[in-house]
Amino acid sequence: MKLCPGNGKTLPADGSGVFSGKILAGRGNEKGASMGEGINDYTKNIVDLRRHMWMAGVEVELRRLIWQIAVVGKYISAKIHESNRKLAGFKNIYGEEQLALDRVTDDILKNKLHHSGFVSHYASEELEDIVAIGNGQEKYIVTADPLDGSSLVDTNLAIGTIIGIHQKSIFDCGRNSMVAALYITYGPLITMIYSAGKGAHEFVLDREGEYVLSEEKIQLKEKGSIFSPGGLRKDWTDEHLKFIEKLEQDGYKLRYSGGFVPDINQVLIKRGGLFTYPALKKSPQGKLRLLFELQPMAFIMEQAGGKATDGKQDILSVKVTSVNQRSPIYIGSATEVTMAEQFLSN
Ligand code: AHG
Ligand code: MN
Ligand code: MN
Repeated sequence: MKLCPGNGKTLPADGSGVFSGKILAGRGNEKGASMGEGINDYTKNIVDLRRHMWMAGVEVELRRLIWQIAVVGKYISAKIHESNRKLAGFKNIYGEEQLALDRVTDDILKNKLHHSGFVSHYASEELEDIVAIGNGQEKYIVTADPLDGSSLVDTNLAIGTIIGIHQKSIFDCGRNSMVAALYITYGPLITMIYSAGKGAHEFVLDREGEYVLSEEKIQLKEKGSIFSPGGLRKDWTDEHLKFIEKLEQDGYKLRYSGGFVPDINQVLIKRGGLFTYPALKKSPQGKLRLLFELQPMAFIMEQAGGKATDGKQDILSVKVTSVNQRSPIYIGSATEVTMAEQFLSN
């Protein structure tokens, strides 16, 4: 496994958030004058996505790109609700059946980014290779798992979209190339977690179609109480099996939906725990895709004070050599990820 030169720097989970973690209560303006008796500017209490990124000092083209991708989340949600849950009759590069929904969400995303003016190249789980979608001068490269957990769509379980935003080249380690990451969870609510290197923040899509800040500067505890063990027990390596048995003996609760996005989101919102899809006896690289699934989630989890490893090195230190590269993953709060590394080094 190629490693990037040890630049060692981890992206600062910049504590200089925008708000002290609470939504600005309805206060009068600086001079103490209120908005007039009983008249309250509802929007004054609302921190929407664009305002949050602007106040956080996210670079203008990056915040416009993140906003455009967030808007695509509404179109994708609309497509899911059209409930065309049939197979498309195609397979992706991994030989997995593609749903019509996999392909149409990929098209929606690619077309929106093509017209954004900020994206030179686009790579997704549904395409054979990275594609040029700009004139080559644009600042960013976007990677996507347009619809994660698509096999669950007919069961009405939560599914998601995972996005990585890179500069220069994706054929590097995430720590060098990534500038932002986000994921959208299509569940009872539509929520979005984003990080542009200044902490990880959650937004909820409200009735007016606005992404409203719900949790700012999410920080994991040292230790959690849930775990998501991917893959089949009979296919696990001995070291991995011993690690999972330790979590079970320590009373960790099993939480596994089969959707990477909702399963990871549960670890983040519950402020701790561990998701793993390990190396398996027959597939030492595991199942999940380094570029489209693991790098964005590792970026976000590190911003929330967590860790992400392939069992030996940080996910963000692993060099991407091909778009369809897979990797084992252990991601979540520091205690459990460190424990996993100890068991795997035995
Ligand atoms: P995708 O739908 O994008 O192909 O992703 C499915 C992945 C991931 O969401 C999940 O964690 C994993 O597949 C579940 O795999 P198993 O069905 O083997 O548990
Ligand atoms: Mn996926
Ligand atoms: Mn997918």
